[in-house]
Amino acid sequence: MRTLKYEQIVEAADFVSAQMKEKPVLGLILGSGLGGLADRIDHACVLPYSDIPHFPVSTAIGHAGRLVCGTLGGHEVMAMQGRFHYYEGYNVSQVTLPVRVMQLLGIKKLLVTNAVGGINTGFVPGDLVLISDHINLTGMNPLSGPNDDRFGERFPDMSRAYCPVWRKHAARIMQDMGMKGHEGVYGGLGGPSYETPAEIRYLRHIGADMVGMSTVHEVIAANHGGMRVLGISCITNMAAGVLKQKLCHEDVLAVADQIEGKFCGLVERIAEQV
Ligand code: HPA
Repeated sequence: MRTLKYEQIVEAADFVSAQMKEKPVLGLILGSGLGGLADRIDHACVLPYSDIPHFPVSTAIGHAGRLVCGTLGGHEVMAMQGRFHYYEGYNVSQVTLPVRVMQLLGIKKLLVTNAVGGINTGFVPGDLVLISDHINLTGMNPLSGPNDDRFGERFPDMSRAYCPVWRKHAARIMQDMGMKGHEGVYGGLGGPSYETPAEIRYLRHIGADMVGMSTVHEVIAANHGGMRVLGISCITNMAAGVLKQKLCHEDVLAVADQIEGKFCGLVERIAEQV
């Protein structure tokens, strides 16, 4: 599969736009086990990915695979209930297609969420952490190849990839809700195998507080497209070697499930104040 052409992305955006009653102001990408938030969206228009031109179908367990558009916290949102990962065999152009669709629909704010392994021992499973920055270790960049100036500039700045102002705002909401308001650097790896303990020691050494297999490509594309980004990671487990336990996806989903109420409450409050 080659890089998607501009016209194909426009076709996907036109299809989605034709189904929506209002213009969305906030984009949401819901990570592993966190898709239940979409059930809180009112007046929802649900579009399975298989109906949208050029959309791949998400195969990861815990990812429903549909766009849910409607009202959350009094604002019009477009939520991805399930995302695309590089490890599923998609190229980075497919992984970032929904972000480009959001950009073409005029969305200027993107909230990305994910499940992560905690590297920083100040975190415990069940914590929600605001992403302050990321390290892209996937070896891939969605902007590789000819630049399409209609989406953004050749060399986009990434020094404020996760909007500091929005993050501060979110930290205040977390405090009001009695949460710890942690912040951390997200280390993005390709997966799908979990990391080795040696890789986790390396990640800690280079400044990562948590590790996951998604997000970085979407955030690069969003910054290229001039969007503000807020990132929330859900610590579903301590990373390999930190607690000597074995890692498995079922445990990740079980912890994400336990946090769901707290997570949904937070995202709803953030959406209210967008
Ligand atoms: N590593 C990578 N991705 C993850 C993890 C992890 O420990 N937990 C949830 N997603």
